[in-house]
Amino acid sequence: MPTYNLKVNGQTRQVVAPADTPLLWVLRDQLDLVGTKYGCGIGLCGACTVHLNGVPTRSCQALVSTVAGMNITTIEGLSPDGSHPLQKAWIAHDVPQCGYCQAGQIMTAAALLQNNPQPTDDDIDGALAGNLCRCGTYLRIRAAVKDAATAVASAKEAAQ
Ligand code: FES
Ligand code: FES
Repeated sequence: MPTYNLKVNGQTRQVVAPADTPLLWVLRDQLDLVGTKYGCGIGLCGACTVHLNGVPTRSCQALVSTVAGMNITTIEGLSPDGSHPLQKAWIAHDVPQCGYCQAGQIMTAAALLQNNPQPTDDDIDGALAGNLCRCGTYLRIRAAVKDAATAVASAKEAAQ
């Protein structure tokens, strides 16, 4: 079986896996990064979203052989201590219900804020449209994303 050097959350991790193994299973089963969830396995739910070079990507659809050399970020790597503005806002708004979709929601929202620091409701709904939540937490997600955006903007202003 081939060996791959993956850059995961800023560290190089070596894995041995068949070339067609989805990144999701390498993360969960070999690297013990179980924050990334398996929902549908066919690219439809977004529960498995991670960042590949900053782009939100469904890890159930990304083969390990295609991601070597890319910067892979999982929910565990979003911040060292859960202090990312989105993570704080998620707690403040008590967003999760069952929680299963939430890592994917946060990773998609984090990429949104990178590209669009002040998203409108439509921007948020559009960016997160592919992340399904069977518990219907969409309104709390939207409120938390907006609060996180405000917190980031305030922190930037204070630093100037
Ligand atoms: S588990 Fe990957 S999109 Fe559903
Ligand atoms: S919180 Fe249950 S699926 Fe989203």
